[in-house]
Order: sequence, then structure tokens, then C-alpha cells
Amino acid sequence: MRKHLSWLSSNELERCSHERVGDMKILLTGSEGQLGCALRGSLPKVLQNSSLELIATSRSGGDGLVALDLADADACRAAVLDAQPDWVINAGAYTAVDRAETEPELAHAVNALAPRAFAEAMAQTGGRLLQLSTDFVFNGRQGHPYKLDQPRDPLGVYGATKAAGEQAIAEVLGLEREGRAALLRTSWVYGPVGANFLLTMLRLHRQKSLAAEPLRVVADQVGCPTSTAGLAGACWRMVERQLCGVMHWSDAGAASWYDFAVAIGELAEDSGTLESAAQVQPIATADYPTPAQRPAYSLLDCTSSRELMGLVPKHWRQALKEVIADVGS
Ligand SMILES: NC(=O)c1ccc[n+]([C@@H]2O[C@H](COP(=O)([O-])OP(=O)(O)OC[C@H]3O[C@@H](n4cnc5c(N)ncnc54)[C@H](OP(=O)(O)O)[C@@H]3O)[C@@H](O)[C@H]2O)c1
Repeated sequence: MRKHLSWLSSNELERCSHERVGDMKILLTGSEGQLGCALRGSLPKVLQNSSLELIATSRSGGDGLVALDLADADACRAAVLDAQPDWVINAGAYTAVDRAETEPELAHAVNALAPRAFAEAMAQTGGRLLQLSTDFVFNGRQGHPYKLDQPRDPLGVYGATKAAGEQAIAEVLGLEREGRAALLRTSWVYGPVGANFLLTMLRLHRQKSLAAEPLRVVADQVGCPTSTAGLAGACWRMVERQLCGVMHWSDAGAASWYDFAVAIGELAEDSGTLESAAQVQPIATADYPTPAQRPAYSLLDCTSSRELMGLVPKHWRQALKEVIADVGS
């Protein structure tokens, strides 16, 4: 843990809206993931102007990143004890929802044991933990947005391991609003890099439109697409304002995967990113069997979290337009 990626500034410390942000050290995991990339690319001004050290980690390190394997709980503990960060932002996760069904131990190690190890080490060193979590901790059987305090009831291994990570943090550090641990649940994350629905759909739109075949997409699962840009902004705001407890963040609105795929085709065609979009055909979940069951409804009630953050989300379609422009440029 010796090679640090740092942004240092000799400027006077700035006052943020709630609390002065002084010298700060942040340990980031999953730095090469979708969210990790967005976080590294969007350091907010208030933090840039303080004396900030960002220790950005990834599984194998290199390219300015520090190696930290989240499947190794002892290494996670040692990383915190060594660096003594003011914040750990745990954006790394085992996110392969279907593969998790056949790799439950690895998913559990990364998604449950690593957050527990961070929490246990931080109970000794101090500092705050921001744990990213997911709509998949809920069963998706209700027809209105999930509230912050609803009981978890995951459907598959991925959701169960993320729920176990949440529970571990609650046990070790507690989840009080003025406390030391924050859970930020989000949904349907996509951005200009990484493995995500947008990039998959852009590829499939191209292929299917060339082959004059329909693109079949599930229309009976509803949630909200969330761009990494908006999500990274929410994370940084939580750090700036020292917000803890359970929080929800997604872009605004609601969509099915079918709606999302149609919008991707339309907006990519309009922007010239796609020459021609495929025709999208709605199908039922039953017509697209996957190893892991997914929640049919996973909107998150973000009202109070947005107020605490002081952020107004973009509508998902507007956010999508901006990401497509980024991908196409
Ligand atoms: N993606 C979504 O739709 C979604 C929805 C709701 C919530 N979330 C949550 O949001 C957070 C960020 O997700 P994301 O979309 O940015 O995920 P992502 O793009 O899959 O990135 C996850 C990162 O974690 C890393 N990682 C996995 N196993 C590791 C290990 N053993 N050691 C070190 N690093 C490891 C991955 O590295 P490798 O590439 O080397 O595996 C990857 O860089 C996660 O907590 C996720 O659960 C995501």
C-alpha cells in the first residue's frame, strides 16, 4: 500500500455546505469499474481544493493503481490499518449477477466479507465507510418505490451477498445518520466504459439492424437506469457532507429494459452514434431465462436522500443522451 495516487493542493481549505473538508485521505476500491472510473474522473472542486490523497485500488494494481484483492479480507483489513483513510469508498464488487449463482463463495467473499473487514478495521482506525449497494437486495414484488428502511429480501446469490455486506456494516459500525457508515443503494448502472446494458445494446442494435432482425428485450422488469456520472456526483456529495446511514440514488423516472433499449436506439441514431437502430421487440422475462432471478420492480425511493445530498437528478433519458454523446465522441 505504498504507491499512492494523489491530488494535492496547497490552496486554502474550502468550506463545503455542511462541514469543513480539511486534509483528507480516501481509499477507493473498484477503481477500474464503471463507478470507480467515474469517481476518479469527477473529483469535485471542493475536494480538489482541500489537501486530498486518493488511494485508488484495483484487483491487480498497475497504471497508477494500488493492488487490493477484495476476495482477501486480511488484505482489506491491512489496507485500512496501513492507510488509515478518512473514507473508504467501496465501489468494487462482484457484479456478475448470473455467474454468482455458480460462484457463491467468491461473490460472498467480495461482497460481504470485504465490507465487513473494512468496517472492522475502521472501527479501530476511525474514518467513514461508503458502501455501494443495490436494488437487488429487494425481491421486487411490490409496485411502489422501495423505502430506505424496508426489509431486505434478495432473490439470488448476488443480491444475497450484497445484503450480507450491508448487514455486516450495520453490525460493526451501525447505520446512524450521524454515524460512521453509509450505504448507497442504486440501480441499473451504466456509463461510457465497462460492461453495461448501454454498450451491449449499442452493439446489438448495430448487429440486428444489419441483419434486419428484431432486438428482443424484456419489457416486464421495471427500474431506473442510473448514469455513473450522476452516481459519482452523489457519492462525492456524501463525502463532502459527511452523510451516513442508508441512502438511495438513481436518475429520475422509471423504465423497463425494453424502454431503455428503445431509447438507446433512438438517441444513438439521433446523435449519429448508430447509423441505424434495430427494431426492438418487447418480450417477457419468461422468454429470456437467466440463471439468476431478477426483481420485477426495483424503483428506489430517493426522495429524502436527494434532499440530504442537495442534488436534483436528471431524468434517465436526458442522462442517457449525454452518455451516448460521450460514447460517440
Ligand atoms: N452495475 C449495476 O447495474 C449496479 C446496480 C446497482 C448497484 N451496483 C453496485 O454499484 C457498485 C459499482 O458497480 P459497477 O457497476 O461500477 O461495477 P463494475 O463495473 O462491475 O466494477 C466492479 C469493480 O470491482 C472489481 N472487483 C471485482 N472483484 C474484485 C476483487 N476480488 N478484487 C478487487 N476488485 C474486484 C472489478 O474488477 P475486475 O474488472 O477486475 O473484476 C471492477 O473493477 C457495486 O457495489 C455494485 O454492486 C451496480
